[in-house]
Amino acid sequence: MTTHQEAKPRARTHTVRQALDSPARTPVAIMGWIATKSSIGGIKFAMIRDGSGYIQVASKRDRVSPDAFADFEKATRESVVGLSGVVREDKRAPGGKEVSVSDFWIISLADDWPITRSAVKSSTSFLYDKRHLAIRGKKASAIIRIRSEIIYATFDYFVKNGFTLISAPSIVQNAVEGGSTLFEINYFGRKAYLSQSAQFYEEAALAALGKVFIFQPAFRAEKSKTSKHLTEFWMIEAEQAFAGQEENMKLQENLVKSMALRVSENRKEDLATLGRSLKVPEVPFPRITYDEAREISIRKGVPFEWGDDLPTEGEREISKEFDVPFFVTGYPLSARSFYHMTEETNDKITKSADLIAPEGFGEIATGGQRIHDYNLLTKRIQTQDLDAESFEWYLELRRFGMPEHAGFGIGAERTTRWICGLKHIRGASLFPRTISRLKP
Ligand code: 4AD
Ligand code: MG
Repeated sequence: MTTHQEAKPRARTHTVRQALDSPARTPVAIMGWIATKSSIGGIKFAMIRDGSGYIQVASKRDRVSPDAFADFEKATRESVVGLSGVVREDKRAPGGKEVSVSDFWIISLADDWPITRSAVKSSTSFLYDKRHLAIRGKKASAIIRIRSEIIYATFDYFVKNGFTLISAPSIVQNAVEGGSTLFEINYFGRKAYLSQSAQFYEEAALAALGKVFIFQPAFRAEKSKTSKHLTEFWMIEAEQAFAGQEENMKLQENLVKSMALRVSENRKEDLATLGRSLKVPEVPFPRITYDEAREISIRKGVPFEWGDDLPTEGEREISKEFDVPFFVTGYPLSARSFYHMTEETNDKITKSADLIAPEGFGEIATGGQRIHDYNLLTKRIQTQDLDAESFEWYLELRRFGMPEHAGFGIGAERTTRWICGLKHIRGASLFPRTISRLKP
């Protein structure tokens, strides 16, 4: 026996986007999820979404079979449906087009949608507990598409500039950014860690490839509950030979400009969905020194000792003074990891900078010039009381031909957060991991 559903054609002829782009009177068969339903007079409406866009469809009882009309009435929010019909111009419809339904069938009937206004209001974590469903919303998908565009811009940019994409292990033996944020794992009875940064592997690879970049997860056992910390995030990192901190900053500002430019050109609708007006920054980006940043922070009521890292509060206050990304240069060595090159004239100041997003969003990248000299790096490891053995191969690189080199790491979710204008970084991740969230 053939049921109503099985008798229907299985293939769609158009995605929603293609249907929206089709002229009036085009016959179409589309499939998708029901975003909303409504009815006015005798006409039933549904908004159908398939990832390519949203289109309004309308059905009248006297225009379709009783089975089709019954399915239209029965289909709940988020049910997957198929329909055929004809495209009509309709100024009132979002996107200016509507499909007049001639046939309609349910493909997968959805239970009552749990993400209701009252459930969302009842608990702050509800939307993230239901993240596997909540990501279907308009804003969540807009953010994910913008993040995707940022990554495409990155790959494009590095490939055009002669960089080779590499990969590196996520299971490692040493800390790149200090021991306090290391995730320890049991590696067949030995201590191992989840990688904080692929920088050391990039430094090895640049001796083979000259200029390299990487895009992969990084892990930080951040105990801080802030709006900018994830425990697992994706980092874009780059490293180049025969380059100092000046070239390094140029590379970063041009990368960030091309990210913003590409998003502003290709994702206008998504930015509008988020209510975000994005200013594409011009290069060169403004630069202030660490000392100037500290003065601003003190003036804004967030004092800190010279030599400490910028406190999150202070960084936010400084960042509010700008409407485009800017560099804070010349960090004290005491606030940086051991591998940083210092100024020839002052061994307390590193050749490094943070790239800070404006409007209070804060740090999105850190970069600097590395020590390429074997003796200097050995001495640094000793003076900082680090275990030379765990940096054995990293040191050895300096014994077999290592030129001046520099690089940086920029967080994909921090950048997405700024470009999208999000209150919290977790919105920039499809399935965020924070100190309190391991699910879904
Ligand atoms: O500033 P970080 O710790 O620098 C490094 O890891 C360098 N080894 C990178 C390099 O030079 N190759 O991390 C770089 C960037 C930060 O600026 C930030 O954007 C992001 O990674 N990041 C985080 N993003 C989300 N959650 C966290 N807990 C993050 N920690 C760092
Ligand atoms: Mg940093």
